[in-house]
Amino acid sequence: MHTLAYLACFLLGFVSLATASLDPYEKLGKKRIFYACTNQIQSEVSFCPPKEISCQCVNENYMATIAGCLRRVNEDLNFTINFMHENCVYYNVTVADDWYDGAIKLYDEKAKSASEIPNFNMSIPIDVPFILNTTMTGMYQEAFKRFYENYDTSIEYGSGMLGYWLLVLILGAIFNWVKILFPNITKKMTHPVINWWRQYVSMPATFRKKKSQEQNFLRYFGFLIPSRLESLVIFLFYCVTIWLHAMNSKAIDNDPVFESKYKAELRYVSDRSGITATLMMPLVFLYAGRNNFLQWLVQWDYSTFMAYHRHTARVMFALAVIHSVGYTILLYDDYAEEAAETYFYWGIIATTVGGLIMIQAFFYLRRKWYEIFLFFHIVLAAVWVAGVWLHVTDLGFIWLVYPAVAVWCFDRVVRIGRLIAFGFPHAEVTLLADETLKVVVPKPSYWHSIPGGHAFVHFIRPTYFWQSHPFTFTESTNNEDSIVLYCKVKGGITHSLYQLLVKAPGRTCKIRVSCEGPYGEPTPARYSDTAVFIAGGNGIPGLYSEVVDIAEKTPISDNKLKLIWVVREWRSIYWFYEELLHLKNTKIETIVYISQPKCYTFIDEFNNRFVGLEGLESEESNELKTGLNTEDVKIEEFSTEETQSSTDKMVRIDEPIRESDGSYHKIVDIIKSELSHVKFIEGRPSIEELIPSEIHESNGSISFVTCGHPAMVDQVRYYCAKNVSNKEKKRVDFYEQIQVWA
Ligand SMILES: Cc1cc2nc3c(=O)[nH]c(=O)nc-3n(C[C@H](O)[C@H](O)[C@H](O)COP(=O)(O)OP(=O)(O)OC[C@H]3O[C@@H](n4cnc5c(N)ncnc54)[C@H](O)[C@@H]3O)c2cc1C
Ligand SMILES: NC(=O)c1ccc[n+]([C@@H]2O[C@H](COP(=O)([O-])OP(=O)(O)OC[C@H]3O[C@@H](n4cnc5c(N)ncnc54)[C@H](OP(=O)(O)O)[C@@H]3O)[C@@H](O)[C@H]2O)c1
Ligand SMILES: *[C@@H]1O[C@H](CO)[C@@H](O)[C@H](O)[C@H]1NC(C)=O
Ligand SMILES: *[C@@H]1O[C@H](CO)[C@@H](O)[C@H](O)[C@H]1NC(C)=O
Ligand SMILES: *[C@@H]1O[C@H](CO)[C@@H](O)[C@H](O)[C@H]1NC(C)=O
Ligand SMILES: *[C@@H]1O[C@H](CO)[C@@H](O)[C@H](O)[C@H]1NC(C)=O
Ligand SMILES: *[C@@H]1O[C@H](CO)[C@@H](O)[C@H](O)[C@H]1NC(C)=O
Ligand SMILES: *[C@@H]1O[C@H](CO)[C@@H](O)[C@H](O)[C@H]1NC(C)=O
Repeated sequence: MHTLAYLACFLLGFVSLATASLDPYEKLGKKRIFYACTNQIQSEVSFCPPKEISCQCVNENYMATIAGCLRRVNEDLNFTINFMHENCVYYNVTVADDWYDGAIKLYDEKAKSASEIPNFNMSIPIDVPFILNTTMTGMYQEAFKRFYENYDTSIEYGSGMLGYWLLVLILGAIFNWVKILFPNITKKMTHPVINWWRQYVSMPATFRKKKSQEQNFLRYFGFLIPSRLESLVIFLFYCVTIWLHAMNSKAIDNDPVFESKYKAELRYVSDRSGITATLMMPLVFLYAGRNNFLQWLVQWDYSTFMAYHRHTARVMFALAVIHSVGYTILLYDDYAEEAAETYFYWGIIATTVGGLIMIQAFFYLRRKWYEIFLFFHIVLAAVWVAGVWLHVTDLGFIWLVYPAVAVWCFDRVVRIGRLIAFGFPHAEVTLLADETLKVVVPKPSYWHSIPGGHAFVHFIRPTYFWQSHPFTFTESTNNEDSIVLYCKVKGGITHSLYQLLVKAPGRTCKIRVSCEGPYGEPTPARYSDTAVFIAGGNGIPGLYSEVVDIAEKTPISDNKLKLIWVVREWRSIYWFYEELLHLKNTKIETIVYISQPKCYTFIDEFNNRFVGLEGLESEESNELKTGLNTEDVKIEEFSTEETQSSTDKMVRIDEPIRESDGSYHKIVDIIKSELSHVKFIEGRPSIEELIPSEIHESNGSISFVTCGHPAMVDQVRYYCAKNVSNKEKKRVDFYEQIQVWA
């Protein structure tokens, strides 16, 4: 089903591109010879009074002069002669099929040059064919050649920019699919050259540990740095762009068409940047979409495409600015007149809106007000599309805009389709320990969850139904037909839900939701001899569902699975207690690090750890549970009392005296015996030591998968890269499941 859906996306994507190219750009090609002739004629002589615009199709002397010019250039004469018909259609004149024979005869018999005509004045119509200045013919032809060929080659240069991305995508796809299709070959790929590439190019962050963490600059100018490989891809794209725009843009000295060499070159650059910018549009929109079939084909995640989206969009905007500024200078003298034309002012609007997008998409604004950013981003992007559409529609480039619109509409249609197909079930939302919301969503039977995948959730409430937030899901441990999301309370929609639930009885309520997904892919960690999953805080659900999936779906294989979870306090594990219990019957080796074990605040939330838990498999823990019951009830009464008196504040038990009476330790002991299959370690793990020791322990290839605090993820990446080339020649892979794009 999943693959089928992707195949459908893929086909639709190509169908939309194919239909777009049904009405492709008509190359100017040899038409330039004809136009150069008529232009030169207009600059040297006149045959009709200025008002008679169709002169070149009706005046026989004019036609004879054209024939003479075409014959002198003598390049693809059949084409240029025939082009006369096409050109005169525009003037509503049908030229005879054999116009050329008569015209050239007249030219040979009667043509005169300027010096042969007494009192020659170019504004006074003459009644003989005219012999054009030979030097000027050469110049006009060359000037037109450069001017018109620039249009045609600009399409090719723009395609070159797209071709660059095609190459990058194909290489990416090859590298990623080899890992999946030939895992045994991948394991052996530890050649020093490959290791060098992986250690210094494909794995690390661009600078030390700066990938997932945001970088601050003068407070308001924060940013994200892509990985080193992504940076390289982006850097090369900038190089390709500059190279393709610098190529073949020289004009001839004293260009007769644009008056000067400078103006001619300015025109070439403006034309080219306008065309290439429009050509970039489909790619920019494709990269931004959630339903981007390339994500599956290339196996890159959304945040990688987001990084590329930002840079392709910046290049597109820069090109649009060059185009606009160039034309502003060229048309400076009659700017007001031009600006009144529809195509022209829509061009101005589009560029302005592009500038606004560049500002409103600042990292600071994205982080701080994501929903507002998104709203304006979409509105402004729509205005941009409209502006470009109206700008190019009469210039013959509208077919470049269709694919962009098709890609965007396709994404939206699939998104709506996914929402409708999922339905709008009532989800059970519960506020758990550690400011975590547990959302249990009944799912349709056809909807398969992807281990490590995420879905975008709409909570259908009047004030925020339109917001969709990404959350990693796990399959419910006790209900096949539900997925479970764990959402950390942050400042936006999650905080609104928190406030709703704090007031609700039992801190739980039913909310209508819809899920858009599943998105994301599991990592190829399952093919390694050892897979180590390192989760921090709320990053656990995705890694948990992936590691459990590997353990349950590949029972025969003898790979080792390890799950490491770093949490702050003891109470931070309560919200994931059921899942930890569930690990009992698997081969997964679980280690939980409690980084601040002395922090006992809210430890009494312990009794909430079985929220929704139907029952335990083993008798031993059943006993434990019944043994606990009396105490549980006591704590429960206590806490509900407190909850009623002050809804927002839970019981705080952090007086040091209580520690010595053993009650907390008792809870810790119960946890340890209930979760006897889990190893608890107090304190933060040292990633620097953890990685080499895991590599050492592994029986062969090893994969690290991580999600959690960005600083931790960056550390794991850093030390994995450092240890790619190890003495034992073990293959080391690193995968991050955290995705940062906002
Ligand atoms: C692929 C993925 C999976 C995730 N899985 C989980 C998970 O399982 N559990 C969990 O607790 N959190 C998860 N997150 C983070 C979660 O999406 C945000 O915490 C949540 O959207 C914040 O909502 P808010 O309105 O309360 O946040 P706010 O306080 O308004 O914003 C907090 C931060 O969250 C980010 N953010 C807000 N809205 C979005 C959005 N629509 N898309 C992307 N980023 C956004 C921004 O960086 C923002 O600075 C995941 C994020 C991603 C990208
Ligand atoms: N796919 C995704 O993109 C995705 C999915 C789920 C969650 N998330 C995000 O993941 C984050 C999890 O945050 P959280 O608030 O639950 O917890 P957290 O603040 O990340 O802290 C979790 C634990 O990690 C420890 N830790 C932090 N940095 C470390 C480091 N460098 N090395 C070792 N241990 C380290 C902390 O120790 P100390 O107590 O010593 O600080 C703490 O015990 C959230 O921002 C969430 O939005 C993203
Ligand atoms: C041009 O047309 C004539 C007659 O139509 C034909 O004989 C000749 O081969 C053509 N030349 C080229 C180069 O196509
Ligand atoms: C050609 O004819 C059409 C329709 O008759 C008219 O609208 C148009 O203005 C004419 N063009 C020229 C150049 O005369
Ligand atoms: C050519 O004719 C125009 C108008 O008929 C006149 O203004 C101009 O001075 C003439 N030029 C020369 C060089 O005679
Ligand atoms: C042709 O044009 C060139 C350049 O403008 C000029 O120098 C030359 O005198 C002209 N030749 C004739 C025959 O008019
Ligand atoms: C390592 O692999 C070998 C052969 O596959 C096996 O005999 C051995 O038990 C493994 N060791 C560990 C620690 O898994
Ligand atoms: C792994 O990385 C650590 C930290 O940089 C380094 O000290 C250690 O020598 C590396 N181990 C191997 C086997 O390369």
